[in-house]
Amino acid sequence: MEQELFRLQQEAEEALRQVDDVAQLEAFRVKFLGRKGGLLSGILRQLGTVASQDRPRLGQLANDVKQAVENQFEEKKKLFVTSSIGTASGVMDYSLPGRYLPFGKLHPVTQVMEEICSIFEGLGFAVAEGPDVETDYYNFEALNIPKHHPARDMHDTFYITESILLRTHTSPMQARIMEKQDPPLRYIAPGKVYRCDSDITHTPMFHQVEGFLVDKEVSFADLKGVLTSFTHKMFEKELALRFRPSFFPFTEPSAEVDIACVICGGKGCRVCKRTGWLEILGSGLIDPEVLKMVGYDPDIYSGFAFGLGVERIAMLKYGIDDIRLYYENDLRFLSQF
Ligand code: DAH
Repeated sequence: MEQELFRLQQEAEEALRQVDDVAQLEAFRVKFLGRKGGLLSGILRQLGTVASQDRPRLGQLANDVKQAVENQFEEKKKLFVTSSIGTASGVMDYSLPGRYLPFGKLHPVTQVMEEICSIFEGLGFAVAEGPDVETDYYNFEALNIPKHHPARDMHDTFYITESILLRTHTSPMQARIMEKQDPPLRYIAPGKVYRCDSDITHTPMFHQVEGFLVDKEVSFADLKGVLTSFTHKMFEKELALRFRPSFFPFTEPSAEVDIACVICGGKGCRVCKRTGWLEILGSGLIDPEVLKMVGYDPDIYSGFAFGLGVERIAMLKYGIDDIRLYYENDLRFLSQF
């Protein structure tokens, strides 16, 4: 029996050395250490048949051998636990920390749009949203852009039918809101707009925020004041503003607004193409024709309006030079905001 115990210990050691996956380890455990059919348990059971004076010594020896094999088995098992965490093998270390699911975040364009809205809300503007699928009437006619007006060329419109289209700007919300309510009004309308255009500064879908205010005796000075407060908050700096004469069919007079370059502060650099200025929005006093179409008397009421591109503001704010990055869904880019 003594011989057999030593032989079994050697056999077990050799077998354990051959084990190199979890399934083999389990097979080893069943064969040598299994409570019922295991070889070591078998030997222990034979103790009853040996002479009683040999029993304590052999019993001790059998237990020592079993303990030694068990210890080696446990050592081997540790190797598998650390190298096959959470596999289908069922070997798992429950004390390891869990895997965290990544947190979702708002898209940078959404973040900037929310920021723009909250700044204007702070200035007393209410937020309204309108349809992306718009009629020719609200997108053009009601904004003083009749059928064959050359300004329609600036818009690269996606038509659905002859009179239904994807809105090319958020300005239709001016007419939609003014039609339903009487002044005084102070609104901003954020949303998606669509144009058949695509390059490093244009995507076929982008976001605008339209703003307008109508009351008695509204002047260009009011427009300047509101836009100055807005840009100072938005860019967290008291940047200079420049109002450059321009043309929009729905405003008269019209102006494009530039801010001193956020990168060089106005000295001239690559981003501002050495001009020192960056265009951020279009604006003006609402054309009396537009007011007349919604039934307002332009001799009593006047107003200002502006429209800004959200992607453009976000590009300037974060120094991004390719608008397409926003829509490639690359998490390495998106998770930086
Ligand atoms: N709707 C114009 C565009 O998308 C932007 C714009 C310019 C809006 C002047 C205005 C405005 O309200 O007054 O190009």
